[in-house]
Amino acid sequence: MMKIDILTLFPEMFAPLEHSIVGKAKDKGLLEINYHNFRENAEKARHVDDEPYGGGQGMLLRAQPIFDTIDKIEAKNPRVILLDPAGRTFDQSYAEELAQEDELIFICGHYEGYDERIKTLVTDEISLGDFVLTGGELAAMTMVDATVRLIPDVIGKEASHQDDSFSSGLLEYPQYTRPYEYRGMTVPDVLMSGHHENIRQWRLEQSLRKTLQRRPDLLENYDFSEEEAKLLEKIKKEG
Ligand SMILES: C[S@@+](CC[C@H](N)C(=O)[O-])C[C@H]1O[C@@H](n2cnc3c(N)ncnc32)[C@H](O)[C@@H]1O
Repeated sequence: MMKIDILTLFPEMFAPLEHSIVGKAKDKGLLEINYHNFRENAEKARHVDDEPYGGGQGMLLRAQPIFDTIDKIEAKNPRVILLDPAGRTFDQSYAEELAQEDELIFICGHYEGYDERIKTLVTDEISLGDFVLTGGELAAMTMVDATVRLIPDVIGKEASHQDDSFSSGLLEYPQYTRPYEYRGMTVPDVLMSGHHENIRQWRLEQSLRKTLQRRPDLLENYDFSEEEAKLLEKIKKEG
């Protein structure tokens, strides 16, 4: 079972994690999430923030409420994640890494940022992307969602995320479901053929084509099989 502890000033913001696949993972006992409002541990009249030394805009989260809250969490060897726009950018491989852990602690910031000493508590500083949110809650929720769906048995069939965009290093191929024809648009013949090998090849080619068109950067460090390299050459020739 994975145990997640989240330090936040707004535990009520995490209601979405009660639903859908993450909610079910909790119900199945595959996951435990605890919320810690660190305002409750603030010594100074419940003040969690203060002005920056040296002057400047905004307020910073004080070290004491965060340190005391972390001290109270029972965890053996947790990954302690600070949500911070200056951190390493979160992606699928990061989610895969976190999904291997037994204990995760997320620290959600607010206001202008943190007292730098809080960073001595953390193992990872992670950003959701190159933009600034009002707080770490939405970022933490996104990371929890992306991580939890990779825990074995959380999603029905193990296979269901193997072909996801980014899992294989490529974007996912196009998919269709019933009916065969909708508003004049039909399903590619190969998918109706029942020929598994042809379907596999078509999907691989579509994935490569889409990745080349939309995210050529993903191909820069991609470890191509012989088949993939040949297919890519063919796609490039066709233009
Ligand atoms: C308004 S932001 C502070 C931004 C800070 N002054 C800076 O320039 O880096 C408040 C908090 O929201 C969270 N946050 C904002 N943008 C984020 C992002 N892209 N990824 C992760 N957390 C983010 C962090 O916890 C941050 O401390």
